[in-house]
Amino acid sequence: MTGSLAIVGLGPGPVDWMVPEAGAALEAASDVVGYQPYLDRIAARPGQRRHGSGNRVELSRARLALAMAAEGRNVAVVSGGDPGVFAMAAAIFEAVDTGDPSWRALEITVVPGISAMQAAAARLGAPLGHDFCAISLSDNLKPWHVVARRLRAAADGDFVIALFNPASKARPEQIHQAFSLLRDCRAAATPVAFARAIGRADEQIVQTTLGDADPSVADMSTLVVIGSSETRFVDRAGGPPWMLTPRSYGGETPALRHPRVDAATLRHPPARPGDQCRHGGAIDPRVKPGDDVGTVDDVGTADDDWAVDDVGTVDDDWAVDDVGTVDDVGTVDDVVAATDARAGDEQRAPQAGLSSAGIVDRVRR
Ligand SMILES: C[S@@+](CC[C@H](N)C(=O)[O-])C[C@H]1O[C@@H](n2cnc3c(N)ncnc32)[C@H](O)[C@@H]1O
Repeated sequence: MTGSLAIVGLGPGPVDWMVPEAGAALEAASDVVGYQPYLDRIAARPGQRRHGSGNRVELSRARLALAMAAEGRNVAVVSGGDPGVFAMAAAIFEAVDTGDPSWRALEITVVPGISAMQAAAARLGAPLGHDFCAISLSDNLKPWHVVARRLRAAADGDFVIALFNPASKARPEQIHQAFSLLRDCRAAATPVAFARAIGRADEQIVQTTLGDADPSVADMSTLVVIGSSETRFVDRAGGPPWMLTPRSYGGETPALRHPRVDAATLRHPPARPGDQCRHGGAIDPRVKPGDDVGTVDDVGTADDDWAVDDVGTVDDDWAVDDVGTVDDVGTVDDVVAATDARAGDEQRAPQAGLSSAGIVDRVRR
């Protein structure tokens, strides 16, 4: 006899934010498996068995659920928010991938839920209106240097960043490290929101800026949103401002309002050796003279220093082709040229004759 397994998203809190299919899957389940606080959010049904566990045992919880489904039971595994976002869906399929071959024949359904990121965004206005990324700050399942690298890359790409798992009692420091890193990369005026316990009775929202933020307000029930260079607060009467990331990037005189560009000269501050982040015109410290230009991202990148949108329009100093593409980075001369460019300069893509190593060297000096 074969049972079934539904991986069910409970949403961030209120029952109203749970999709009807989730309610039906819970109703039909003979067994509900999950992190105990999530089980506590579901009404008990007579005859239904519950299997609560701690928050660091995702794989063993997944195996238990699969084993019960293989015995013929109708199992629901619950996750907060969406089960596919830093949650049980991945654990279940990882267990299938590495476990009993018979589990591959099970009927497994993923029932989506509203992620905390979406719920927070809805409360805040429209902070995710343009490209964004989600990063978990927890180093329980990945090393911190990977988290740091991704934070830099996200800042570098000018994404809005949604930070999950920003802090816990066991990890109080990482949110401070993350802010320190991001402050090296983004303007102090960048809008930031701490959205805590969204949809629950103890919901709390703090809107601030990267420069003023106190990272210690974040805990394990908080979703942190760091704006991009385009994100702004929109005042409203009788309430806190809306947080907006416009749909279009680089609209209306971006050069004049972009914090990374000196409006008087449209000149980006030059790179300094040892800079941590390329928004300051910096070079990744791992790149050495003589390195292959394949380390293009590390060399960095005219697009960071001089993204077309930063300067304004494509016909400003830098044609799109000069920045942002791997080929161009290859022509690291763009990077060099970028640091020298002035408004009104002709496009200076090829500074012929410079090897990539030579150019890297020049930039690093
Ligand atoms: C393990 S992740 C699970 C994410 C979940 N699957 C989702 O889609 O939202 C837990 C993190 O989600 C965020 N989170 C979950 N519920 C939240 C809520 N109601 N308000 C704010 N953040 C929440 C917090 O960052 C928390 O540390």
